[in-house]
Amino acid sequence: MSETHGRVRVGLEAELPEGSQTEVSVDGLSVVVVRYEGQFYALRNNCTHKDFPLLGGEVSAGRITCVKHGGKFDLATGKARALPAVKPVKLYRTVLETGEVYVEPL
Ligand code: FES
Repeated sequence: MSETHGRVRVGLEAELPEGSQTEVSVDGLSVVVVRYEGQFYALRNNCTHKDFPLLGGEVSAGRITCVKHGGKFDLATGKARALPAVKPVKLYRTVLETGEVYVEPL
């Protein structure tokens, strides 16, 4: 994983299969990168309900579920979609360039 100007390499697109979840560090913060229906999404790897990682949560209907209490977050917007989560989770931009996937702060 290399880091230049806030951009972090996640890996080769070909090595990040559908449904994969990858943790990277952006500006010292943990970010989870999810491949869902072919698209890449990146969110702060931290539930806004309590301090708990989203990495490894079930992904369905465009949402990732926090395994701790079942809060759900929209992958595309970061908005909370199920209680007890209320506040949105921070989003990052994903960039696909020459077969590589990167994450950048928005
Ligand atoms: S810590 Fe995620 S829903 Fe409670």
